[in-house]
Order: sequence, then structure tokens, then C-alpha cells
Amino acid sequence: MPGFEWLGKEESDAVAEVMQRGVLFRYEFDEQRQGIYLVKQFEQAMAEFTGAAAACAVSSGTAAVKVGLAALGVGYGDEVITQGFTFVATWEAILDCGAKPVFCEIDETLCMDPADLEKKITDKTKAIVPVHMMGAQARIKQIKAIADAKGIAVMEDTAQALGGTLEGRHLGTFGHMGSLSFDAVKTLTTGEGGMVISNDPALVLNASEYQDHGHDHKPVGRGNEGRRFMGFNYRMMELQGALGLVQLKKLPDMLATMRKNKAALKEALKRVPGVSFREVLDEAGDSATFLAWFHETPEQAQRFAGLLADNGAAAIPWGANTWHAYSHWEHLHDGASLPSGGWPFARPDGPAEYDPAVLPKTAEILSRCLSWQIMLNWDEAKLKQMTEAINRAVAEL
Ligand SMILES: Cc1ncc(COP(=O)(O)O)c(C=O)c1O
Repeated sequence: MPGFEWLGKEESDAVAEVMQRGVLFRYEFDEQRQGIYLVKQFEQAMAEFTGAAAACAVSSGTAAVKVGLAALGVGYGDEVITQGFTFVATWEAILDCGAKPVFCEIDETLCMDPADLEKKITDKTKAIVPVHMMGAQARIKQIKAIADAKGIAVMEDTAQALGGTLEGRHLGTFGHMGSLSFDAVKTLTTGEGGMVISNDPALVLNASEYQDHGHDHKPVGRGNEGRRFMGFNYRMMELQGALGLVQLKKLPDMLATMRKNKAALKEALKRVPGVSFREVLDEAGDSATFLAWFHETPEQAQRFAGLLADNGAAAIPWGANTWHAYSHWEHLHDGASLPSGGWPFARPDGPAEYDPAVLPKTAEILSRCLSWQIMLNWDEAKLKQMTEAINRAVAEL
């Protein structure tokens, strides 16, 4: 998913133009910036691309989850359900809102298991955060139906799946809000950056004012000096807006390239005995940032991972990954935080405690799962080398 591979002259020129105007701030300085507001343009272009009613840019994908939840009114006393296979950012943001993360299992989509989700809902559940992991769809329609029946908000963490769709509709637009990331390894990169998107302009207005210290963004722009609520600073810079606009133009080609590269490797992997693929609900809408597959046992996955590495095509063994798998988040299990009082794990509404063993299905699925991140600059020679590595690994099995 790396847009950094295609950073080029267009991005350099766009950044240079911002420097020439000399306004790095996304708001105000109207005369000096000659009426040009690039972060705002980036928001409008992303809303148009995804089909969302509105968008609000922020400083990171982590901030986007936090700002999206804040816009929904999530806070202390609330529970927010997310999945045990995601980047730590998802639950960091929930805890930073003051709410308690509750973790549910994944299934073969590598995303939230709706059956386990239903079991985890309590009368304190304020929001559900399904994560479209590794480029493809969570069972978002089912999840949204479960949430709707109980009046619970859905905020889709779409950090890893920009450009992904389900039945033609963009991921991130099914729930009340969606969050995006443009960090250094994402498909569209601005170095750091993120965005929330929604079909509800009132929620985006909440997000917009929250990420800007509560400045009043209505009725005429910013800084009318009425404040509806307190906020924080999660603002995006003009330089990132400039980069985002250029990268967004490249996004359709990036998606097509990743889909082509992924298809070639998937074909080659079909020869591996006992391999099955991650369930993708809508192949046409897979953003193709990763190719993920399963072996029949953890031992077979480990053995094949070793053979691939020996043959120059190392894959990610998700069972051993410490940043994305619940069973490996030791600081969460230990309730480790900086404040001497133990916040947000020690808390008046009862401690937030996490047993590493409570998601056995997730641990089992990940123990058999390997994947490659799909790169943009893989040429025919590289795809051939990887295909040969697969063939050699199969021969050595
Ligand atoms: C699922 C998920 N959510 C949130 C984030 C956080 O994004 P950022 O790195 O832009 O803060 C990431 C980043 O990798 C992610 O993978």
C-alpha cells in the first residue's frame, strides 16, 4: 500500500508552490495565500472520490479514529467494540476518548466476526469500530444491521483500505463515520495525515470544530469565536493538503497496479498444497494492499514462511506480529500507561483489564496466516522472482 513509491516531480512541485506562497496553516491568511486552501480542496476531493457527503482532514489516521469517535460523542463510561486484529492505534484512540475498548474475534475475512460482535454488546456499548484490515472488506453490512437494531454508532477504521469498495460503495461510507490514514506506508501518503468521512454533515462539523480547538466553523468559515464545545489540535498542514491532492489523482492507477500484482502472485500461490485464501467479500472492490493466505496448521505456515524467506520472498507471519495481534499487546494486558494513577486502565468506572487468552479464534486464524504487502514498483522481473521463490518453496516442502 505504499504511495511513497510513486512520490515524484508532481508532489515536489505542489509542495514548492505552497512554500512560495508562504502559508503553511490550513486556515486564514486569505490575501497571502491568494484564496488557495489546499487542505479544504483535499477534503472536498476525497468526499467526491469516496461518495461521502463531507470530509474533515486531521493530522494522522490515529487522530481520525479519535476525532471520529469524539464527533459521535463517545467518552468516559462508554464501551467501544473493535476487533483483536488491528493496529494498536484503533484501541489507543478509544482509550484516549475515555471509553473502554472491548475486543471481539475476527473470522476468515481477517475482520470483525459479526457473531462474536453480538455477544460483546452491552447496554454500555456506544460505538462499534470494525477495521477493514489489509485492504479488503469487513462484513460491514451485517455489522451495521446489528448496530442499527441496537441504536449503536458504527465508525469504520478504513486506514488500510482507501479505495476499497463493497458492491460499488466505498468502504468508510457504510457507517456513521469512516477514518482514513495517509501515513508513510499507506496507499495515498502525505507523510503523516488522516481524514474522517461521513454522510452526515453535522458529524463532520463536530469533527471539524473538535480538531481545531472547538473553533466555530459555522456559519462563515473559522474563528467566529463562538464555541460549542472544547476540542484539541489535530489539524493538517497545507503541505499535506498539497501532497494529498496530487496523490489522490494517482490513486486509481495505484489501485489498478496493486490489483494486477496481487492477481499474479495469487495465481502462483494456488499451487501450494493446503493453501486457502483470506475471504474477500467482493474481489472487484479489494484495494489489494495485501495478499493474505492460510495454511492448514500453524506448523505448516511456519515451515512455508521459512522456505519463502530462504528463497528471497519473505512473508509476514501474522501469528508472530506484535503490533497487530491482540495476544501480543503486552502493554495492553499489563495495563501499562504513563500516568502515576494508572489512567486509562485504572478508572472509577471499573478497571479496563485485558486477558491475552480471550480471543482464541483470532489467535488460531492468525497463527495459520501469512501475507505479502503488495508493492507498486514490482516489475515483471520481480514478479517472476517471487513466483520462482514460491515454486522452489513448494518443491522443498
Ligand atoms: C487499522 C489502522 N488504524 C489506524 C492507523 C493509524 O494511522 P496513522 O499511522 O496515520 O496514525 C493505522 C496505521 O497503520 C492502521 O493500520
